[in-house]
Amino acid sequence: MILKSFKRINQELSPKNYFFGPEWIVLGVNNVCNLHCKMCDVGTKTLETNFAQNLIGTHPLNMPLDLIKKVIDQVAIHYPKAKLGYAFTEPLVYPHLETSLQYAKEKNIKTTITTNALTLKQNAKRLVDANLGELYISLDGPEEIHNKIRGHKKSFQKAIEGIEDIFKLNPKQPVSVFCVITEWNIGYLKEFIAFFKDFPLKEIGFMHTNFTPQSVADNHNLIWKTKYKATASNIDEINIDNYNLELLWNEIQEIKNEKTSFKVIFSPEISSKDKLIEFYHNPEKIIGKRCNDVFSNIMIKSDGSVIPSHGRCYNLNLGNIYNNSLKEIWNTNVLKEFRSDLIKNNGLLPACSRCCSAF
Ligand SMILES: C[S@@+](CC[C@H](N)C(=O)[O-])C[C@H]1O[C@@H](n2cnc3c(N)ncnc32)[C@H](O)[C@@H]1O
Ligand code: SF4
Ligand code: SF4
Repeated sequence: MILKSFKRINQELSPKNYFFGPEWIVLGVNNVCNLHCKMCDVGTKTLETNFAQNLIGTHPLNMPLDLIKKVIDQVAIHYPKAKLGYAFTEPLVYPHLETSLQYAKEKNIKTTITTNALTLKQNAKRLVDANLGELYISLDGPEEIHNKIRGHKKSFQKAIEGIEDIFKLNPKQPVSVFCVITEWNIGYLKEFIAFFKDFPLKEIGFMHTNFTPQSVADNHNLIWKTKYKATASNIDEINIDNYNLELLWNEIQEIKNEKTSFKVIFSPEISSKDKLIEFYHNPEKIIGKRCNDVFSNIMIKSDGSVIPSHGRCYNLNLGNIYNNSLKEIWNTNVLKEFRSDLIKNNGLLPACSRCCSAF
C-alpha cells in the first residue's frame, strides 16, 4: 500500500524520473492465431490498425529461442520480481513455449499465459510441469455463443476439456476466465457464470469491449499524429448500436447479486446505466483517470522490439532487446517523454479512452 502510494507520487511529480521497475514484461511471442474472433483485429484480419500491427506485424513469426532466453536473462538480472506475461498473440501455439517456461522456472521468474485455450488439452501437462503461475483463459459466453464469436465450432468444448485436464493434473493451479462483453453475448452472461459453478476457478472477469472508432482516432491525431499516432481498432465487425445496454445493465446487477465460489469482476466497473450508455455511445469521453500500465508494463515483440504497456498501446520504438538492456529500455527517453506527456494530459490521451489500461 505504501509502495503503491510512493509510486503514484513519483508518477505525478516526476514522470521522467521514475524510480521503480516494471511489474510485467508482456511478451508477443508469435504473430499468428488459430481463431477468428469478431471483436479482435487479428481475428477480423483488420491488419492496418495499431493493435493488429502490434500483435501480428512483426517478423519472425515466432520469437526465436535465443531471444526469449535473453529476455528471461535480462528480467532475472534487472527486474527479478517482474512477471513474464505470455499474452500475445496465441501463446499455446508458440513452438518454444515449453522450453522457455522451463528456462524461466530455472531462473525463478514467474510466468502467466493468456490464451484462447483451443490447444490447452495438448499443452496441459507441459504448463503444469513448468510451474506456470496464473492461467488466463478467454471465453466469451456459453458454448454456442462463444463458438460463434470465435469462429470455431469446437473452441468452447476444447477449452473446457483443457481446463478440466489442468485441474486434474494440478487442482491448485490458479485459473481465471476472461469474457469480453460484446453484442453477441449480452443476455447470456448469467448462463455463462452458471456453467462454471463447479469449477475451482479463481476469478471470472467481464471486460467491456475495448474499441477505438475512427472519429476518436482522427480527433487524437489532430494533436498527436506525429508523436503517438492512433488508428481505429477492434471495430470492424462489432456494431455498438446492436448492444442491448438495457439488458446488459440488468444482467450486470443480477450477476453482482449472485453468490459464486469464485470472484466476479467487471472492467471497468460502471456505476450507473447512464454511464454504461456513455461508455459505449460516447467513446470520445475520457472516463478513466490515468493509464495504469505505462508505469508498470512493457511489451516485447518477436523481433526484440519494445513498445509501452501492451498490444493496445501506441506503436512507439523504445529500443530492441538485441541491442539494449531491459534497464536501458525501461528508462529510455522516448518512454520518459511518453509518460510525461500522459501526465501533462491528465493521465490519458484522446485515443486511450476505451483501452483496458485507462481505468
Ligand atoms: C488479443 S488476445 C491474445 C491472447 C489470446 N489469443 C486470447 O484470445 O486469449 C488478449 C485478450 O484480449 C481480449 N480481447 C480481444 N478483443 C478484445 C476487445 N475488442 N476488447 C476487449 N478485449 C478483447 C481477448 O479475449 C483476450 O482475453
Ligand atoms: S482474441 Fe485472441 S484468439 Fe481471438 S483472434 Fe484475437 S488473438 Fe486470436
Ligand atoms: S491507456 Fe493509452 S497509454 Fe495506456 S496502454 Fe492504453 S493506449 Fe497505451
